[in-house]
Amino acid sequence: MARILVVANQKGGIGKSTSVANLARALTERQYRVLIIDLDPQGGVSATVGVDSFNVKRSTYTLLMKDKVNLEKVMRRVGPNLAIVPASIDLAAAEVQLAKQSNQVQRLRYALNHNALPFDYILIDTPPTLGILTANGLVAAQELLIPVQAQYLAMRGIRGLLQTMEQITKKLNPELRLLGIFVTMFDARARHAQEVLDELHTVFGAKVFQTVLPYDEVVAEAPIAHQSVLDYAPEHPVSQAYRQLAQEIIQRGETNNV
Ligand SMILES: Nc1ncnc2c1ncn2[C@@H]1O[C@H](COP(=O)(O)OP(=O)(O)O)[C@@H](O)[C@H]1O
Ligand SMILES: [Mg+2]
Repeated sequence: MARILVVANQKGGIGKSTSVANLARALTERQYRVLIIDLDPQGGVSATVGVDSFNVKRSTYTLLMKDKVNLEKVMRRVGPNLAIVPASIDLAAAEVQLAKQSNQVQRLRYALNHNALPFDYILIDTPPTLGILTANGLVAAQELLIPVQAQYLAMRGIRGLLQTMEQITKKLNPELRLLGIFVTMFDARARHAQEVLDELHTVFGAKVFQTVLPYDEVVAEAPIAHQSVLDYAPEHPVSQAYRQLAQEIIQRGETNNV
C-alpha cells in the first residue's frame, strides 16, 4: 500500500517544493515508485520536474473538480519510477469554486480512493496557506511532514499548522499523524539558527528529524537545469542530506514511530 505524505507549512519560500522534488528523487534512487501531487497553483514542484503549469491540460485541478477521474489520465511520467499530477494555473480558481461545494476538503481523498495506486510513496506538495487546497492534502494523507526554516517565529507557524491538523484528525481523517519536522536552509554560521534548532528539539523532541538541510546556492541552480539537486550535483552535501532524510522517512514508516 502507498504511504501518502503531505508536505505543508503555511509560510512560503521555506523549501517545501524543493524538498518534495528531492525527496521524490532520493526515493526513486532506491527503486521506490513515487507519485508527486502538486496542490500549489504556483506549480513550484511541477516546474522542478520539468512540467510547465501554464501548459497543461489535465492537472490537480481535474483531479479535484471532476468526479471519478482516472489517475492515469492526469498524471505524467517524468522519470524512472517517478510520476506527477502537475499543477495548472486554474488550480487557483479551484479554491474559490470548491468553497461553494460540500465535501470541499475531501475531493483529493475521494479521487485517490477511487483509483488503484501502484506507488510506494505519494508526496503531496501544498501552497503557502492553510486554505482549501492544503486541507485537501491533509485530508488525503496519512502522514504530515513539516519543513521549517530555522528562524524566529518558525515555532508559531508550526503551532497553527498542528491546530489545523488536529481539527482535521478529529473530524475528517483520524488516520493522519505527524511524521516529523525537518529544518531546511540551515545556515550554520547564524547563531540564531542553532538556537531555533535547539528550541525545536526541546519542544518537539524525537519528532524533529536528525537530518538538517544546509543552505546552499546549488539548490537554486539545479531547477534552472530542470534537474533535482540529486541529479545536478549527486555528491553535494545537500544531495546527501536529502538521501539521509529519505532514509529517516523510510525508517519511521517501518517502525511506525508515533
Ligand atoms: N537548502 C536550500 N539552500 C538554498 N536555497 C534553497 C534551499 N531550499 C530551497 N531553496 C530555495 O528557496 C526558494 C524557495 O524554495 P521552495 O522550495 O520553492 O519553497 P516553498 O515551496 O516552501 O515556497 C527557492 O528559490 C529554492 O531554490
Ligand atoms: Mg512551493
